[in-house]
Amino acid sequence: MATVIERARVMVRPSGKALAADIEGVDLAGPLASETTAAIRQAWSDHLVLRFRGQNLSDDDLMRVSRELGDLDWAPIAAAKIKVPDEDRYIDGTPEGRQYVMVISNVVENGVAIGQLGAYEAIWHTDMSYIAEPPMASVLYSLEVPASGGDTGFCNMYLALETLPAELRRQIEGRACRHDASRNSAGELRRGFVDAPDASQTVGAEHPIVRTHPETRRKALFLGRRRNAYIPGLPLAESEALLDALWAHATKPEFTWYQQWKLGDLILWDNRCVMHRRDAFDPNARRVMHRTQIKGDRPY
Ligand code: SIN
Repeated sequence: MATVIERARVMVRPSGKALAADIEGVDLAGPLASETTAAIRQAWSDHLVLRFRGQNLSDDDLMRVSRELGDLDWAPIAAAKIKVPDEDRYIDGTPEGRQYVMVISNVVENGVAIGQLGAYEAIWHTDMSYIAEPPMASVLYSLEVPASGGDTGFCNMYLALETLPAELRRQIEGRACRHDASRNSAGELRRGFVDAPDASQTVGAEHPIVRTHPETRRKALFLGRRRNAYIPGLPLAESEALLDALWAHATKPEFTWYQQWKLGDLILWDNRCVMHRRDAFDPNARRVMHRTQIKGDRPY
């Protein structure tokens, strides 16, 4: 059922699924009143993923909205295999955007890809979990969308942990996972990386498999991405079997919600308790999205 947070006139309409809500009555193109920001924060904490439809935003707006929640984080390192407009990152043109706005797109202009991830499926993952202090949130805004395909799925990692069978919960007690930095969620090798000979040699940050959300204090499964993940201290085969079991559980459809994009949609999600993925789409269609990342802390 939709609720209205009266003082700010913010309407929160839950998806009815395991997570996500629409926020209505908020124009993100102008400065937000403190009551509005407070209402958005409350809804975000309750629903983990928020959707704002019908927005008309510049990159400066996107960065300003993101800064309502924290400090901006760098865009991730780009894939190595195609020509990009910048040495390390796919970025937007303004001096600030060049650092912070990641362009996600399949569009190629004059032989140069304007963004990352192409039209491929992007597998379940948490953004940049391979760094020591992964971003707490991501904000994704749609500028061009295909007629179909390219839906983005989200899954609730509080729920995944709360429903984990006791035997699996016992097996991950006190364990960490190493999160692979070498490949992006579309499987592309990042610039400056080589493939590890096997998952036990993966390069990337280690984080506890069960993390505590620093604001809600709730515990969530924290898996990052499946490819090349490794649980230090376990023989490789045992690590693989345990990770397979955890992933099979965490990505069950009952923990998920899917976003079907319309032009002007902005989605805000909490990387500390949510994973996401994207469906492939027609490579001949155009899809252009701009994303910011908001700095987070070391998971504990
Ligand atoms: C991502 O942030 O991983 C991409 C999501 C999308 O393109 O829908």
